[in-house]
Amino acid sequence: MRDLLSLQGLSIQTSSDKRSLTADVNISLVEGEALGIVGESGSGKTLTALSILGLLPRGVEVVSGEINFNGENLLSLEPERLREIRGKEISMVYQDPMTALNPVMTVGNQLLEVLDYHNHEVKNPESHVRESLIEVGIPDPERALKSYPHEFSGGMRQRAVIAMSLLLSPKLLIADEPTTALDVTIQRQILSLVSKQRSRRQMSMLWITHDLGVVANLVDRVAVMYAGRIVEVGTTKQIFNSPQHPYTQGLLASLPVASSRSRSRLASIPGVPPKPWLVGQSCSFADRCQFVQIRCRESLPLLDAQGSKSVACFYPIASST
Ligand SMILES: Nc1ncnc2c1ncn2[C@@H]1O[C@H](COP(=O)(O)OP(=O)(O)O)[C@@H](O)[C@H]1O
Ligand SMILES: [Mg+2]
Repeated sequence: MRDLLSLQGLSIQTSSDKRSLTADVNISLVEGEALGIVGESGSGKTLTALSILGLLPRGVEVVSGEINFNGENLLSLEPERLREIRGKEISMVYQDPMTALNPVMTVGNQLLEVLDYHNHEVKNPESHVRESLIEVGIPDPERALKSYPHEFSGGMRQRAVIAMSLLLSPKLLIADEPTTALDVTIQRQILSLVSKQRSRRQMSMLWITHDLGVVANLVDRVAVMYAGRIVEVGTTKQIFNSPQHPYTQGLLASLPVASSRSRSRLASIPGVPPKPWLVGQSCSFADRCQFVQIRCRESLPLLDAQGSKSVACFYPIASST
């Protein structure tokens, strides 16, 4: 199957002092597929997502690589074409729903505005908008349409944003930690709602999170990011059952055990990730790795993109399957 989205060798730097923030990121998605990007805070997940939509903050830029979406190179598109794609073919949901909502406009009008912006051909916009709220499980949609965002709970706000992002049936939904600020019960509800919508619409999805546990039942494949690079990619099953990168193994070991009532952390990886621009030609995980060897400090392990599984490690953990 053809890739819907592919990032090839994508590197992002600060514009002024050329600090490397992400390096050589390769990820791809076929139509209908869901990919999780998992990594600690600061590993470059958000910048990677923003670069896809041409929304990098000022002072940060893509310095090499390619982003192809549905046959178009997103990095060389006219701003107008990119605006067309945004919201219509690719939608993005952020951690804070207020990023996407206008506090002084009713939810109903905001949804209608999205349709208008994209010169929709929806026959009955009002009922389309109402349906979209029902689909994301907002009770009493009539009332919700007339409400302002501040009248909603955090979970309801995020549902409204998801409704907004699905309004024009995008091919790809990019979600950047949309459930991180919500409590566990609401988080679970949102994940199940998104899962349902994704399979109903056969939509592709890029789900970004620092919490490996979140993507376990949500995505087909997982890419693990560390200090600005992808260090391991595999099917969700491979990543959870036989992680090969010591960092991935550490992430798994630090997941709270579902059965433990205290939700205590089993283990954590000592130390903190290095700044990506200070890594140089060595493995960025070397200082925290219990299996580190001399070679790991002398050269940079790259992803072996051959088989279905790839890991950027000279001494990967032997597969147990
Ligand atoms: N506007 C910016 N200017 C300079 N550095 C930035 C900017 N935004 C993010 N960074 C840096 O880029 C790195 C990656 O950030 P980010 O993509 O937000 O990580 P994540 O989403 O994985 O937490 C971090 O070191 C962060 O400090
Ligand atoms: Mg982020």
